[in-house]
Amino acid sequence: MTTSEPRPRVETGREPDLLTYIWNLPNFHELQNNPQKVLDAIDKFNTEEKRLINIGPRKGVLIDNLIAEKKPSVMIELGGYVGYSAIRFGDALKRAGGKKYYSFEINPINASVAKLLIELSGLQDVVSVIVAPSHESLANVVKDSLIESIEILFVDHWKDRYIYDLWLVERLGLLKKGESVIVADNISPEAERGTEYVDWLNASQSEKEGILEKHSFGTDFANVDLVEVIKEKGVRGSGVDLENVPGIPSYVYETKLHEFRNNSGRTDGVAISNVL
Ligand SMILES: C[S@@+](CC[C@H](N)C(=O)[O-])C[C@H]1O[C@@H](n2cnc3c(N)ncnc32)[C@H](O)[C@@H]1O
Repeated sequence: MTTSEPRPRVETGREPDLLTYIWNLPNFHELQNNPQKVLDAIDKFNTEEKRLINIGPRKGVLIDNLIAEKKPSVMIELGGYVGYSAIRFGDALKRAGGKKYYSFEINPINASVAKLLIELSGLQDVVSVIVAPSHESLANVVKDSLIESIEILFVDHWKDRYIYDLWLVERLGLLKKGESVIVADNISPEAERGTEYVDWLNASQSEKEGILEKHSFGTDFANVDLVEVIKEKGVRGSGVDLENVPGIPSYVYETKLHEFRNNSGRTDGVAISNVL
């Protein structure tokens, strides 16, 4: 297993066009402070104008219901894109009595679009967009003590980062047994056993130890308390390659894959994992 090739952080195109579309809508004023109308407008742009890669209404309802049931005080998402999931789930979290939704986004153009749409929805006090690679943002929320543990984590950035950020979350001590829930989008049932992320969720402790043995890490973690190092030296000064830290094999997950057929007929899934 190796870390992925770097992708360009900034690509422009249909995402800024979404802003032009929304600000030119004849009923634009009706969208102000109305998250549902903003979501409807994004869905309409997606189906009638240009394809976007947000979670959409069908999968969205599944996660809305999870939020209503678990009532998290704080949520984090990895991969904010143009703000659709942040508006949808930030609003659900607010309605369930929650306080804060952190949306981590690497691409500043997408993040800027998201910030404007979040503000248009009236959710700027609840939803914060943090523009940085997810591993840095995860370490920063720990360094700044913004969260003690994950209540619900929504994983929806690039799929090859899923396993590395899960390992980082484990290593940062952010998971609480019996409480934390991790929701991952774009897990296809065909690849359920094939992806490193799903393999890790389903592996036994000894299988996980085997996975880590085959992998090389830049830091010897035997005597390193990552949280202590980050709090003492900061995220950039820690000297640890946060994109590639070993997970903790003793965590046990119970995962249910919810399947959805997309417009092109392919089956896709949302994996909801409880930390046991
Ligand atoms: C599928 S989209 C997210 C869709 C969004 N969650 C929604 O449903 O509205 C993936 C996003 O993840 C961002 N991304 C990819 N790798 C990232 C990383 N390492 N850290 C933060 N964001 C990342 C991409 O720039 C892109 O905007």
